[in-house]
Amino acid sequence: MFLRNSWYVGAWSDEIDETPRQILMLNEKICVFRTQSGTLFALEDACPHRKLPLSMGRVKGEAIECGYHGLTFNCSGACIAAPGAGGRVPSNATVRSYPIEERYGLAWIWMGDPNLADPAKIFQIEHFDDPTWGINRGKAMEVDCNYLYITDNLLDPSHVAWVHQTSFAQNATRDTPLETDVQDGCVVVSRWMMDVEPAPFYKKIVEFEGNCDRLQHYEVRFPSHAFIRAVFKPAGTGGKNGPDDPRTFIMDSFNFMTPMTDGKTRYYWFQLRNVRPKDEALSKMMSEGVMQAFEEDRIILNAVQNGMNEKTNPNIDLAIDNGQLRFRKKLSQMIEDERKLKSVEAA
Ligand code: FES
Ligand SMILES: [Fe+2]
Repeated sequence: MFLRNSWYVGAWSDEIDETPRQILMLNEKICVFRTQSGTLFALEDACPHRKLPLSMGRVKGEAIECGYHGLTFNCSGACIAAPGAGGRVPSNATVRSYPIEERYGLAWIWMGDPNLADPAKIFQIEHFDDPTWGINRGKAMEVDCNYLYITDNLLDPSHVAWVHQTSFAQNATRDTPLETDVQDGCVVVSRWMMDVEPAPFYKKIVEFEGNCDRLQHYEVRFPSHAFIRAVFKPAGTGGKNGPDDPRTFIMDSFNFMTPMTDGKTRYYWFQLRNVRPKDEALSKMMSEGVMQAFEEDRIILNAVQNGMNEKTNPNIDLAIDNGQLRFRKKLSQMIEDERKLKSVEAA
């Protein structure tokens, strides 16, 4: 069960060109490609004739031609040419078309009612394209688990103490209490850890000596997009009402999960930072460090999915799961509301 009326990331924009390709999202096969003029298309990946994937066809100008008998479709999924039909186009020769938008170097696809697809609802990112902020990014990762285990993970600041011991962990990540805040569009789990040594990954980046006050802000927006902010300030300057300090280091991590199937998820990510924006070596070091940490997560999450599939007695929840459980509860209510609305409309 997925929330359909939402934008999900289909691909990095630069992965889509004039060679059509198939992507799998929410159990649906979608054909994406770029037309000659550079416009992105996303169409149901099945020709209405013999269901050959359109991704096996060819882009022709601003349209795509099926690779079997040449039915040709425009960006709204209407057939505009049917060779051998005496110039007539069968009225039932249509494919579903999905709204698609490019933003932040990503191609976003709306999986629900096209009439509700508002580009203003795409995840907003404050410092993207800000020349005073640096960016690092890498390839999307595939994880063999349901996307909700990843949203759980991204509402779980505690796991770094055990999973990321050589990078993000420090003693305070083990048991500093968490705060949970459920808002309309998201759930936030956060905590300040005061007067602590910077964790190994950040120690190489922060521009001050000695201990720090560290914020972990873990925010997941419905249905599956996370904004993780790490803040490091010189000890004594942090906390909710701490004074501004020019040495503050901020790393914003953006994580966009796209369910492919119930048990497989594609995970797109990049980070923005408020220091040394043009420092390519720093960007590289950050991407490599983050990818190593994500690999640690991936191993855990694959094994959690297996463990949950094979469980022979019920699993339990802990106090640290509060944010995750409330996120899941609210999302399942949203999915149920969407389902009910659809069945009312269909009646
Ligand atoms: S299968 Fe596409 S035209 Fe025949
Ligand atoms: Fe992690």
